[in-house]
Amino acid sequence: MSSVVIVGSQWGDEGKGKMVDYYAGLADAVVRYQGGSNAGHTLVIDGKKIVMHLIPAGILREKPLCILADNVVIEPNTLLSEIGMLKDAGCNISPSRFKISARAHVTMPYHIMVDHLREIKRARAKIGTTGRGIGPTYEDKAARRGIRVGDLLHPEVLKERLEIILDDRNYYIKNYLEETPFAFDKLFDEALKFGEQLAPYIDDTSLLLWNMCRENKNILFEGAQGIMLDLNGGTYPYVTSSNTTPAAAAVSAGVSPAFLKNIVGVAKAYTTRVGEGPMPTELNCEVGDLLRFQGGEYGATTGRPRRCGWLDMVALRYAIRYAGITSLILTKIDILSGFPEIKVAVAYEINGKRYDEFPYDISVLYEAKPIYEILPGWKEDIKGASSLDELPENARNYVNWIVERAGIPLVMLSVGAQRGESIEAYNPFKA
Ligand code: IMP
Repeated sequence: MSSVVIVGSQWGDEGKGKMVDYYAGLADAVVRYQGGSNAGHTLVIDGKKIVMHLIPAGILREKPLCILADNVVIEPNTLLSEIGMLKDAGCNISPSRFKISARAHVTMPYHIMVDHLREIKRARAKIGTTGRGIGPTYEDKAARRGIRVGDLLHPEVLKERLEIILDDRNYYIKNYLEETPFAFDKLFDEALKFGEQLAPYIDDTSLLLWNMCRENKNILFEGAQGIMLDLNGGTYPYVTSSNTTPAAAAVSAGVSPAFLKNIVGVAKAYTTRVGEGPMPTELNCEVGDLLRFQGGEYGATTGRPRRCGWLDMVALRYAIRYAGITSLILTKIDILSGFPEIKVAVAYEINGKRYDEFPYDISVLYEAKPIYEILPGWKEDIKGASSLDELPENARNYVNWIVERAGIPLVMLSVGAQRGESIEAYNPFKA
């Protein structure tokens, strides 16, 4: 059996969707292991833009079984509309192609409400969440008052659990958030209906994966968000509410960590971030605006403009170390064509002191001033390049410079948004 884990190495939005789509062509199963409809993968296939939030992009390939694993949180309306959209597009999304873990948790309407109202209450201290109820769903899971996808199939279990949960949540909603509590009957009926619609897809996905591992299949694990948004290792509290690291793939899929072999980190050739929190290389000037414009840097889930800046090598080296990334995919290098010079942060200066390593303390990070190295840019459009040798010398030098400092090999260079616009160095399933 061979496995590849694909993770974002920055603050999300590194272009993982296109990469998952590519490697899914070589996989027997694609497993999404964390997050929920906060993620947004944009794919461009035959010139058509497809945005997916929950279902692994592998569903657009013919072969792989696509799985939402235990630690994914599922908002049924989003999932059902995604299934509908894929069916309309002629995609085979039969239960033999798509499975949902019975252990995954359900994002309920009150989670979404709590997410919104909390952000309003926090005012200036808000996290800048996607508003999809992600934090409150994981919070209820850890507090053992969550509803699992498998519960939707058992009316008696669901009734008993929802009664206890609503009692607790409605108290909070009414007394702390000062909002109208949720009526039991409506939530219960809706949840049962979702259960009926999703029933054919619900399964013990850990067992399915165990059997696939024993049959020597190729399994692709797909992370959402990025390492810098990890609940432990990210810029806490400005993080998402799950572990985005590859180690979390084994925990979520219910497979041995020994199954995880090749950890591929995806990094954009510059940096973006959505939501609040420190971002040392952020550029609040026309260079940042140009990166946003050329890179189409607007959130796929919320439409928010992304904060843009030069590549932060301090953060990228940290993500590689923290997550145990073993090889690198660089994306969106084509967006840098035309910039006369390209800067890369190699260290920070914080209160007069040089930091070569990423600080864990965000109050320190807010003071970080990047120390840049400047590399010469290139003018040529590089979208058609099919090998590293075809790149202009300065573009090739930029790639080599990053790879050398990252200290891990390059697997792939993405030079455009379309399916074919990539230069492959090697196949990670065969590594
Ligand atoms: P939440 O995951 O909606 O709770 O949001 C927490 C933080 O993670 C916010 O800063 C979001 O903007 C960020 N975030 C969540 N999902 C993504 C994503 O897919 N890409 C980039 N940022 C994300």
